[in-house]
Amino acid sequence: MTVENERDVEGILKAGRVVATVRDAMLEKVEPGMTTAELDEIGGRLLERHGARSAPRVTYGFPGSTCISVNEEAAHGIPGPRVIRAGDVVNVDVSAELEGYFADTGGTTVVPPVSDANGSLCHATRVALDSALSEARAGAPLNRIGRAVERVARAHGFRVIRNLAGHGVGRKLHEEPEGIVSYYDRGDGRRLRFGQVIAIEPFLSTRSAHVTEADDGWTLVGHPENRSAQFEHTIIVTNGEPIVATRSERSG
Ligand code: CO
Ligand code: CO
Repeated sequence: MTVENERDVEGILKAGRVVATVRDAMLEKVEPGMTTAELDEIGGRLLERHGARSAPRVTYGFPGSTCISVNEEAAHGIPGPRVIRAGDVVNVDVSAELEGYFADTGGTTVVPPVSDANGSLCHATRVALDSALSEARAGAPLNRIGRAVERVARAHGFRVIRNLAGHGVGRKLHEEPEGIVSYYDRGDGRRLRFGQVIAIEPFLSTRSAHVTEADDGWTLVGHPENRSAQFEHTIIVTNGEPIVATRSERSG
């Protein structure tokens, strides 16, 4: 959506604060021995307490309140009996609707002990998101976002997952502009517009450039040895720095 008035801005910021709070709480609670269903319950209860509704559930009938993806899973992991173990890479993606506004965020953590490779993967993905945010301003070519992400990934020795992408958000979970990819798409002539609400979500990976749907019909997985990280913010595009609706002290 494009925000048209103060009410729209406030609505996005309010929804953004809720999903950021839930994201941070979940990432804080990750510990070995817990199942992803238990982690999801923490998120689900918090969303409810804030009067928010899980966006993937209301939009797509997703069987969980949040998406939790572990190790070889890159995205859309279904919360369930999978037990989180020491050394696992855990991604939490939280999106919700509050009073008619949708916001979407995500973050990745590594359960100690953190290997150098996994630590570097998370660090590089944060840097990639920061770099992409700094390119997002009104009038700028949209493909600068992917160019920035790909550059950071390469500089750190990682790949990007090419078939996962950011998207417009606000009135729905996914709306125009779709396909805000993590690589430089020369042929993409679109430009960002003032007031546009978009979710930027780079996926960096150690091995896989593509992910495929698992038998459960939801989870997107790479090579069994692949590890990926995602960080996601919902932003409002301005003529300068974007307004980051899902920023917190923890997320930076
Ligand atoms: Co998203
Ligand atoms: Co998301």
